[in-house]
Amino acid sequence: MSKRTLPPTASIATPGEGARLIAPSASRNVDAICTLLKQVAPRSGKALEIASGTGQHVATFAPCFPDLLWQPTDIDPERLASIDSYAQGIDTILPARHLDATRPGWAVEFPDLSLVTLANLLHLISEREAEVLITQAAKTLCPGGRLVLYGPFMRSGVLTSDGDIRFHEALAVQDPEIGYKNDQDVIETIQSTGLQVIDVIDMPANNLALIAERPAA
Ligand SMILES: C[S@@+](CC[C@H](N)C(=O)[O-])C[C@H]1O[C@@H](n2cnc3c(N)ncnc32)[C@H](O)[C@@H]1O
Repeated sequence: MSKRTLPPTASIATPGEGARLIAPSASRNVDAICTLLKQVAPRSGKALEIASGTGQHVATFAPCFPDLLWQPTDIDPERLASIDSYAQGIDTILPARHLDATRPGWAVEFPDLSLVTLANLLHLISEREAEVLITQAAKTLCPGGRLVLYGPFMRSGVLTSDGDIRFHEALAVQDPEIGYKNDQDVIETIQSTGLQVIDVIDMPANNLALIAERPAA
């Protein structure tokens, strides 16, 4: 699929210096996600970031993991240019690549990964697309490799704050196929790929992080 049309509040990024974009949400959550990764991410190997956005995340994460080689990706050319701009001078970040993570089969392009991260995309795609994304992400992982999914979720089918109710409704009005995913459904999808869900962590601003691992062979 191509990139979906979203409500204006769903993926805000404003121009910064040169090609750089600034996403206020990334500025707010980058430290919390980085702290999380320091607790759960493998220390070496190859890392894929799906839907990297502006590049603020990967440019913060990479220096904290000197033995991980990061591959940022996104569907949007403007964001790819922004990622490359943020990555300048950080030699553990590869040039950003175009990836539509809802396209079946993309996993073959990213083999033997020790880490896949995704922040703030599942609620912007359909249930079916989320299943494809998770299935493909799982296929990329080597034994012991980890998947980290971060973002807003329903908890056991319930939207748990007024802000989440408003945001989910704005998404569904714009596109009835998208909106918050249920944490238990996502966990079941992850488990159906053969990964083990090893932790579910409450994050600031009512977000969740789901951590999964490919069992050692
Ligand atoms: C809300 S932003 C999140 C960006 C970043 N992960 C963060 O948390 O700041 C959603 C990102 O997903 C990208 N995106 C949208 N549809 C996509 C798809 N099908 N595959 C990959 N990336 C996609 C958008 O271009 C955008 O950069």
